[in-house]
Amino acid sequence: MAAERPVQAVILAGGQGTRLRPLTHDRAKPVVPFLNRPFLAHQLALLRQHGIADVILACSYRVDDVRRALGDAGHLGVSLRYVVETEPLGTGGGVRNAADLTAGTIFVLNGDILTDADLGAMVRFHEARASRATIFLTSVGDPRQYGLVETDADGRVRRFREKPSGDDPVTSNTVNAGAYLLDAALLERIPAGRVVSIEREFFPALIADGIPCYGWHATAYWRDIGNPAAYREAQLDLLEGRARMLLPPPGVPRDGCWLGDGVTTIADARLVPPTVLGERVRVAAGARVGPGAVVGRESRIGPGAIVEGAILWERVDVGDGALLQGCILGADVRVGARARVGPDVVLESGAVIPERTTCGRAS
Ligand code: GTP
Repeated sequence: MAAERPVQAVILAGGQGTRLRPLTHDRAKPVVPFLNRPFLAHQLALLRQHGIADVILACSYRVDDVRRALGDAGHLGVSLRYVVETEPLGTGGGVRNAADLTAGTIFVLNGDILTDADLGAMVRFHEARASRATIFLTSVGDPRQYGLVETDADGRVRRFREKPSGDDPVTSNTVNAGAYLLDAALLERIPAGRVVSIEREFFPALIADGIPCYGWHATAYWRDIGNPAAYREAQLDLLEGRARMLLPPPGVPRDGCWLGDGVTTIADARLVPPTVLGERVRVAAGARVGPGAVVGRESRIGPGAIVEGAILWERVDVGDGALLQGCILGADVRVGARARVGPDVVLESGAVIPERTTCGRAS
C-alpha cells in the first residue's frame, strides 16, 4: 500500500535570532520583512505549492509578532495553528511540543530557510527508500557553521556532526538544510517538557538505534537567512532571478519594479530595477531608488537621495541628498540630510542618523 502523502508541516519559529540582531530586537526572525512580506509567507507559499496546507508553528520568543504578522494565514491559502512554549525547548523540544497535532508523515522546517526545492521529489525519495526520517541536504562553501551529514551511496545517514569545531577535520560540505520529512510517530522518542536539540540529540539517536534515516541531496536554491548579510542577499537572489520567486512582493509589477498601492514618485525621481516599493512610499524629485532596493511601506525618500542594494523596513525617512548603499534599516529609522550609510550597516528600528554623518564604508 502506498504511504499517505504528507499534508502537514511543523515550522520551528521560536528561536531568538541572535545572529540577526539588532533587527530581531524589534521583530521575531520568522516574520522579518522579506520583499515586504513576513519572511514565513514565502515558506508557506512553497508548502502550499506542494499541497501542504495544515501548518503548525512552534513558537516561543516574540510569538505575538508572529501572530500579528500571519494570523491564521488563510490569505496565503494555508491554515496556521500555533503551539507556544512557555520556556524555549530547543529545536527538538519545539517539535515535540507540537506532536499532539500531528499524524502520518510530516514536514519539519526551520523557520529561517529560503528554498525553492521540489518537496514532491523529497517525498518520492522518502517513500522509495522506506525512510522514516529524511533530511534535506545541501552543499555549502563553508560547512563549519552548519551540521555535517555523512551518508552512504544509497543516501542512508551514517553520521551527524553538528557545527564541527576548529580541529575537527571537515570531510564534506554536505550539510543539514533544516528541513525534514518525519514519521510523526518518532516524535514520541523526544522527551516532553525539556530542552532537546533535533540536530544534536534526536537524529544521532535515530541513527544509533538503526531507524531508517536518509539524506536527500537537492541542488535547488537554499539559503539560511539568519544573519544580516544572508537576509539581504537572499532578497536580491529572488529579485535577480537566482531563486524562484513563489510569492511576489505586494503591489503591481512594472518595468522590473514592484509598486505597492499609493506609491508616489515626484518629477524626475528614478526607479532602477529590480526594486520594490511598499504601499504609500514617496520618492521625491531627483531621488534614485535601485537597483536592488526594497523599501517598506510609508517610507519617504527625500529629494536627491540615493538608495541602492538596501533593505528598508516600514516608515523609514531618508533625508535630502542622503546616500544608502547595501545597508539594512529597521522600522522608523531616520536618516538625516546628506548622511551616508554604507554596506554592512544594520540599524535597529527607531535609530536616528544625524545630518552629514557617515556610517560604514559608504563610497
Ligand atoms: P540564532 O540565535 O541566530 O542562531 O537563531 P535562532 O535562535 O533562530 O537559532 P537557530 O537558527 O539555530 O534555529 C533554527 C530554527 O529553529 C529557527 O527557525 C528557530 O526559530 C528555531 N528555534 C530555535 N530554538 C527554538 C526553540 O527553543 N523553540 C522553537 N519552537 N523553535 C526554535
